[in-house]
Amino acid sequence: MINTRNVGITGTGSFVPEKILTNADLEKIVDTTDEWITTRTGIKERHVSDEKTLTSDMAAEAGRRAMEAAGITPDDVELILVATCSPDALIPSTACFTQDKLGCKNAGAFDLNAGCTGFIYGVSFASSLVASGAYNTILVIGAESLTKVLDWQDRNTCVLFGDGAGAAVIQPVEEGFGIIGHSLGSDGSGAAYIELPAGAAKLPASHETVDNRQHFIKMKGNDVFRFAVSIFDKISKVTLDKIGMTYDDIDLIVPHQANNRILEAAARKMKVGEDKIYSNLARFGNTSAASVPIALDEVVRNGKVKKGDNLLLVAFGAGLTYGSIVLKWAK
Ligand code: UT7
Repeated sequence: MINTRNVGITGTGSFVPEKILTNADLEKIVDTTDEWITTRTGIKERHVSDEKTLTSDMAAEAGRRAMEAAGITPDDVELILVATCSPDALIPSTACFTQDKLGCKNAGAFDLNAGCTGFIYGVSFASSLVASGAYNTILVIGAESLTKVLDWQDRNTCVLFGDGAGAAVIQPVEEGFGIIGHSLGSDGSGAAYIELPAGAAKLPASHETVDNRQHFIKMKGNDVFRFAVSIFDKISKVTLDKIGMTYDDIDLIVPHQANNRILEAAARKMKVGEDKIYSNLARFGNTSAASVPIALDEVVRNGKVKKGDNLLLVAFGAGLTYGSIVLKWAK
C-alpha cells in the first residue's frame, strides 16, 4: 500500500436504542420460535428504535462518543461519512442531519450505501484521504434503523435485523501503527439477493407498491448465505496477500455480524479458531452497516484489543458488496 503517512482509528463509539425485542417477543408477531432463530442464526435479541429515533440520531450519538474517545471537538471534524441503507430520507443525506446534530460546522458530509459493507468502504476511503494529507480528521459512522423498513409479516427477514450505530475517528497515527491494507469488491449481478424494491426512481411509490409490500427489505437468505461463507475468506486473503501477512499474524477478526453459522463456516475456511472471530450477534442481531463498528467499539472498550494488536475487519452485504481492512491498533 502506498501511504504518505500512517493513518488509523483514534477513537470509537457506539449507540443502540434502549428497547430490546427478544425472540420470545417475536414468537407473538410471526410464526417463529426462539429455538429456530437461535439455532439458525445465533440471535437472541435485538435493539429497536422508537418512532422518534432516526438513523441520524443514533449516528450522532455514536459519533459523539467516538469524538470523545479520540479527544477531539466537533470543530476538528473535516468530513462526516455516514454508511447506511436505512437513511432518514432519500434527500437530503443522513450525514447532513448528523452534521447538524453534532454541530460539526467545519465538516463536509455525505452518505455511502454499500449495504452491510458500508463501514469498511467508509474507513478505506477516509483513511486514504487522510493518508494523502488532504484531510486530518474524518468521522466515519455506520448507522441503521432497519427495523423501520422491515416487513413484520415476513419471518424470513424480520427476525434477523436490529438498529444501532457505530463510529470511528480517522486521523494520522504514530509510525508503524494504523491501517496497513484494505480491499473492496462488488458483484452487482447479485443485486436482487437483498433489496428494498420500491420508493425510488426504478419503482416509484404507488398504491400498488404499498399493497405489494414493496417498501420493505426482501432477501434471498440462502443465496446470501452461500455467497457470505466464501467471500469472508476470499476478500480477507486479498488484503493479507497485498501486505504480506497471513491469518497467523491476526490477533482478532471483527466481522460483519449476520449469522453465527456464517462465522463458523468462515472460521473453517480460514482455518482459524472460532475464538479469533468476534461475535455479538446474540445481543444485537444484524445491524447492517453498524455491525462492524459496534463490534469494534465493544472489543476496544472491553479491553479485548491492546496497542500493537493486528485486527482484521471484514464484511459483505447488499449490492452485493464486500471488503476487508487490516490494521495495527494504535492506542
Ligand atoms: O447482512 C447481510 C444480509 N443477510 C444475511 O447475511 C443472511 C444470510 N442468510 C442467512 O443467515 C440464512 O439463510 C437465514 C437465517 C436467513 C435462513 O436460514 P436457512 O437455514 O438458510 O433457512 P431457509 O431459508 O433454508 O429456510 C428453512 C426453513 C423454511 O421452511 P421450509 O420451506 O423448509 O418448510 C423457512 O420457511 O425455515 C423456515 N423459516 C423459518 N422458520 C421459523 C424461515 N424463517 C423462519 C423463521 N422461523 N423466522
